[in-house]
Amino acid sequence: MKKKKKILLFCDPGIDDSLAIMYALLHPHLEVVGIVSSYGNVAQEQATNNVAYLLHLAGREDVPVIGGAKGPLSGEFTVFYPEIHGPEGLGPISPPDIIVGELLNFDRIFEIIERYEGELTIVEVGRQTALAIAYILGEEHMGKVKDFFIMGGAFLVPGNVTPVAEANFHGDPIAANLILNKAKNVTVVPLNVTSDAIVTKEMVDYITAYEYNPFTPLIKPIFDYYADAYSELIPGLNGAPLHDVVTLAALTQPQLVNYIHRSVTVQILERTRGQSVGDFRPGWEAEPSEVLHRIGMVLDFEMFFRDFLNVMTRSLHDQ
Ligand code: RIB
Ligand code: CA
Repeated sequence: MKKKKKILLFCDPGIDDSLAIMYALLHPHLEVVGIVSSYGNVAQEQATNNVAYLLHLAGREDVPVIGGAKGPLSGEFTVFYPEIHGPEGLGPISPPDIIVGELLNFDRIFEIIERYEGELTIVEVGRQTALAIAYILGEEHMGKVKDFFIMGGAFLVPGNVTPVAEANFHGDPIAANLILNKAKNVTVVPLNVTSDAIVTKEMVDYITAYEYNPFTPLIKPIFDYYADAYSELIPGLNGAPLHDVVTLAALTQPQLVNYIHRSVTVQILERTRGQSVGDFRPGWEAEPSEVLHRIGMVLDFEMFFRDFLNVMTRSLHDQ
């Protein structure tokens, strides 16, 4: 049997984050060994409650939940996105107040890294603040992470929160830069890839036609809310992009995304805040390998489509 990839997921659920959590728990080749919940699409307390609710539905209260950041490193006020993700992050659904069995101390992140030394992938699909704090508090542990998959940035396409910036990098550009500067083996899955991972209402009708798993009843109401929000944002768009799901899908399928290697930095100030920068000029001079990041450029949509339908119609018992 194929060995499962162990992942520690940093997220801010949020609709596409919630679908990413479901995808990860259903995926036969992924083992979720911890979830760090932070502010971003909603406040950190709400994000944590949403994580707890999804784990409870799956009967996976054994997965450690660690409370992440409540705001960016700059100390600025955070803007949430209820119009896209719903007032509580799950579209029209108001999750019950699930008490997280034990909301674990931040140090638990380092215990998980030590326990899975050399085989752990950190997947970051929210603002990068908590991951940056992990570097600030325990850099000696961070080198033991195998690799990082980060949803953020936008290359050669417009941003989604400003004309140039994508939401995760814009939310805490200081944290994003810190990670891009310090982390090794980083794959960046940016908006130019994730915006093509469009799921339609017809795809969702297919995956909810039968109650395949405990998440099925949630998927249609939360997705429809998200797709309706996107149809207002981008008139004519049939469906909505699952940015965070495709980041996990890229980890499980090496051929899903086509990559190039460049050194990435993030703009911090004023009008260009959150803009991801890499040298795409034709005469690009090769940079030293230790500063390069692997940047997603183009998605194989057919492969995403088949994989998404396949994973989301699995039973939790098919693992
Ligand atoms: O820009 C897309 C990202 O911002 C995703 O992680 C989504 O959840 C939103 O917060
Ligand atoms: Ca997210």
